[in-house]
Amino acid sequence: TTPILTDSFGRKHNYLRISLIEKCNLRCAYCMPADGVPLTPKNQLMQAGEIFELAKIFVKNGVDKIRLTGGEPLVRKDFSDILKKLSALPVSLSITTNAVLADRFISDFRKCGLNDINVSLDTLLPEKFKMITRRDQFKKAWDNIHLLIQEGFNVKINAVLMKDFNEDEIIDFVLFTKNLPISVRFIEFMPFDGNRWSKSKLVTEEEILEKVEGFFGKQPLEKLVDETNFTSRNYRIQGFQGQFGIISSVSNPFCDGCNRIRLTANGKIKNCLFSNHETDLLSALRTGENIEELISNSLNKKKAVRAGMNSFEKLNDPKRHTNNRSMITIGG
Ligand code: GTP
Ligand code: 5AD
Ligand code: SF4
Repeated sequence: TTPILTDSFGRKHNYLRISLIEKCNLRCAYCMPADGVPLTPKNQLMQAGEIFELAKIFVKNGVDKIRLTGGEPLVRKDFSDILKKLSALPVSLSITTNAVLADRFISDFRKCGLNDINVSLDTLLPEKFKMITRRDQFKKAWDNIHLLIQEGFNVKINAVLMKDFNEDEIIDFVLFTKNLPISVRFIEFMPFDGNRWSKSKLVTEEEILEKVEGFFGKQPLEKLVDETNFTSRNYRIQGFQGQFGIISSVSNPFCDGCNRIRLTANGKIKNCLFSNHETDLLSALRTGENIEELISNSLNKKKAVRAGMNSFEKLNDPKRHTNNRSMITIGG
């Protein structure tokens, strides 16, 4: 990467997460505030061509991995067009989706070389799925997950854990990796605007490992080597085809290896998931300002850990949650 994508700590940002849309076909309580979010007027959202123009600038400066997020990216009407455009760039393409619409896009994914599909699924139980997502789409998501695996995509399941909601499914999720070549990643619940986060709902990395060890024993639990720029610390149960991981943004952050920069659907970059400092690249693109300088300035302001929320006390401060966007408009 060029100096433009290197921050003041020397971290090189080669991974761009682009949110394509603020809407979703599900209504997960921890992601979307109960009264919804005010939708950005259409003319303030990036058009397909603008997404491509901005992506090209990042790629020119060293981005080699692009992940499409949302809202739910597959809800966007011109998704296939955007994907096709981006596939002309020398990057690895990936997507984070709830999989409800995934069957309609299999051939587009194939044609565009998109192999890495992360699916958000917080429960293995249809009734619970309906409770958390406020939509009755479990079967569609479930069938599509299996379809994607069958079709040979690299599938990771993302499960946000919440106390008294789905922590009792940890073992079942690990067992899900027994006969399938997938990765299940448990995610610590993180605070954002409108998601009623509290420490009491948090299930920590330590608690997850304790549960897994309690069930499978210490011996068959194998810690895998950390990937560079990892979000999840990964494990395998001996003899299982798949693996599981833990994304411990709250109890054990992984910011020293952060290579991620975010572009929101309304064309603003965020230098950190937790940062409320945003830089408007879309307006700059429209008026012909120097985009590279704006990116560089933003990354120069990036903090070492979680946008300065470097202690549990700060993370716990509700004022800071409402400073930031709600997750549905960030994209994870
Ligand atoms: P891979 O490319 O497969 O490693 O996926 P990923 O973990 O980068 O992306 P994904 O969209 O699947 O995100 C999974 C979870 O990790 C979500 O809850 C994200 O919010 C969280 N996550 C992703 N990137 C970051 C990050 O830079 N910082 C923090 N704290 N969490 C992140
Ligand atoms: N804390 C942790 N993860 C979250 N996600 C959405 N909201 C939160 C939250 N508050 C996850 C989604 C998706 C990923 C992009 O982010 O489940 O898998
Ligand atoms: Fe990077 Fe911010 Fe996530 Fe840390 S919290 S890994 S700095 S995006």
